[in-house]
Amino acid sequence: MINETLSKALNDQLNYELFSAHVYLAIAAYCSGESLDGFANFFTVQAEEEKFHAMKIYKYLNDRGIRVTLAGMDTPNNEYSSVLDAYEHAYEHEKEVTRRIYHLSDLAMNDREHATIQFLKWFIDEQVEEESMFDTIINKLKRIDKDSNAFFMMDSEFAARTFTPPAL
Ligand SMILES: [Fe+2]
Repeated sequence: MINETLSKALNDQLNYELFSAHVYLAIAAYCSGESLDGFANFFTVQAEEEKFHAMKIYKYLNDRGIRVTLAGMDTPNNEYSSVLDAYEHAYEHEKEVTRRIYHLSDLAMNDREHATIQFLKWFIDEQVEEESMFDTIINKLKRIDKDSNAFFMMDSEFAARTFTPPAL
């Protein structure tokens, strides 16, 4: 049995994952506006991943007999000074997601809610990958000029990123 505090926190996280999709779609739109279709694709795919994360929690709450409720969303940041600025914003956002997942995990551990501890392990591993990915891209972007061939090669490279949803 999941207690009220934990079920509310999981429901909040579901909503925060949907907000993350919103954040990344806004970045994709900024990139499209700059005619950087590869970077735009990268963030469209990222938004799809976030929706998948939300659905993973949605299914889990349903499986545990908890009624999901959706909340309104804040307006995401729509303006960026550069692609690097957008990636730095995304990286900070992922660090906040990690803090929230850790807090959820703390709540589950305090309540010895083993199924939820197990469920959250997937998200903890996912955050390690997300943070590492953004950190690597930011380091690359810092090394190259935004009008260089290397920058446009990165844009082309990201045009190939796709999202294949794993089983929920
Ligand atoms: Fe996520």
